[in-house]
Amino acid sequence: MASIANVTSQKAELLGSALLDDPEHNKGTAFTLQERRELGLEGLLPHAVETLDRQLERVLEHLDAKPSDLERYIYLIALGDRNETLFYRTLMSDPARFIPIVYDPTVADACLTFGHIYRRARGMYVTRDMKGRIAQVLRNWPKHDVRFVCVSTGGRILGLGDIGSNGMGIPIGKLQLYTACAAVPPDYLLPVLLDIGTTNDALRADPLYLGLRQPPPPVHELDALVDEFIQAVADVFPGCCIHFEDWKGTDALRFLARYKDKILCYNDDIQGTAAVGLAGLTTALQIIDAPLTAQRILFFGAGSAAIGNANLMVSAMQAKGLSLDEARARISMFDINGLIESSRKDLTDDQKVYAHKAAPSRDLFKTIETFKPTVLIGVSTKGGAFTQQIVETMSSLNARPIIFALSNPTDKAECTAEQAYTWSKGKALYAAGVQFPEVTLNGRTFHPGQANNFYIFPAIGLATYVARPTKLTDACFIVAAEASADQVGPEMRAKGMLYPSQANILETEVTTATRVVEYMFDQGLAQVKRPRDIRAWIEGQLYRPQY
Ligand code: NAI
Repeated sequence: MASIANVTSQKAELLGSALLDDPEHNKGTAFTLQERRELGLEGLLPHAVETLDRQLERVLEHLDAKPSDLERYIYLIALGDRNETLFYRTLMSDPARFIPIVYDPTVADACLTFGHIYRRARGMYVTRDMKGRIAQVLRNWPKHDVRFVCVSTGGRILGLGDIGSNGMGIPIGKLQLYTACAAVPPDYLLPVLLDIGTTNDALRADPLYLGLRQPPPPVHELDALVDEFIQAVADVFPGCCIHFEDWKGTDALRFLARYKDKILCYNDDIQGTAAVGLAGLTTALQIIDAPLTAQRILFFGAGSAAIGNANLMVSAMQAKGLSLDEARARISMFDINGLIESSRKDLTDDQKVYAHKAAPSRDLFKTIETFKPTVLIGVSTKGGAFTQQIVETMSSLNARPIIFALSNPTDKAECTAEQAYTWSKGKALYAAGVQFPEVTLNGRTFHPGQANNFYIFPAIGLATYVARPTKLTDACFIVAAEASADQVGPEMRAKGMLYPSQANILETEVTTATRVVEYMFDQGLAQVKRPRDIRAWIEGQLYRPQY
């Protein structure tokens, strides 16, 4: 965080135009007349001395004049390159407006054209051919106290598939959300693109593509590379948390299983997604006053999102008294080849545990009639799969059916909010992966929830930043999910909302982080001294964008 004290301490190193070129310390037109004299800035800035809020006004004017969100993204990223404080002041002035620009959905367009809109490197590119000297490469990063590395291979970005090195927009955006949502100081965050090559022929043929133009290596080679990377991060940045993001599904599951009990790490696509699913489900069950342990949950789609969600729901059911087998028996899955059942020969180990004895079926409607789910969760990428017949059947089986259509982008949602509320005659407790507009039905207005991971991972980040835990257990994510659910008040619930408001996101994240930190202290995971007032202690460490 830049402050006058910081700027002054930089005097010996940064003066004049070098200071204006340093985004961390640059204040632009907010440098005072005295600072301008002392720091060699006279003549390099116009006459006016402005406040941060006046500068924000100008930024907002610029943003309003831009023709598209992609142009706003490019502008904001360039602003971050010039003046980090003003960049975060902008994002934190209206998170609900700016998060969809620096992150999903606009970041998807940014990633698609990353090689074309590229201005300068933000974060590190660790390439396969650096094998054997990754630690040496990481030492080139100018900061030594790095607390989070968000690392992607670009192997499965949002709904875009493998986009290789263009995926760098994701770790950058994800870490910006740590700060914009949960006020984790940006100095400690390092985005990394582990460039293993790409299967994407079109990209490899694009002259402006910036990554390695090779296909990814075989599994054993990738595993050895990732092992070296993990060790190098531990050596160069001791105590750093590794956040895996947007890796190919099978790689994501394999690496999480390999490292989660050994080092401080997590995978947001798996654990963050699972926690946000559990958070919405917990709110829905609080609304209908039903226990998690009595639900029958059907996942439509059995990929990494389904497996992550199911595994965390199983852990949550175990915490409420069910055995592992009893909990797993409450969950079924249906994928592109039909119901996951025990005679299927094409299942992965992660899927096999949800393969129960049942007649094979390729008909979702029939599976619903037989399994009688209380909860239906779409993570299939198959837009429109929850037809009127499916939603009506869920509504005839349940007084308040819980229906989540989590696939995104919008055209992949299994059903829209309007369809869910209309076809269920207002009975459905519904959440989507994207933000649908509110729906009015017979004079009643419903606000569909968005199962957005930003309700969870920035809070986990903040908790990790302050408590410095040895590892992140599934229970940390369950606690975060419950904390999110507990922040949806009765008025919001009456409107069908399953998640806290986006406008107060910092307050929400701090409340969630406080619960997680309490849990970390209670379980002996935290490595710092327990303060008397955990919330006040966390608040004292929040980043505030001010000069
Ligand atoms: P994945 O590719 O690992 O899995 C997709 C699964 O859907 C596979 O099991 C596949 O067999 C199944 N499937 C595909 N077409 C189908 C069809 N026609 N009928 C039945 N099953 C079909 O993908 P992943 O990572 O599990 O993500 C799935 C979706 O969930 C994506 O759209 C993703 O954007 C979304 N998602 C949403 C999140 C959120 O809202 N917070 C978080 C993570 C993922």
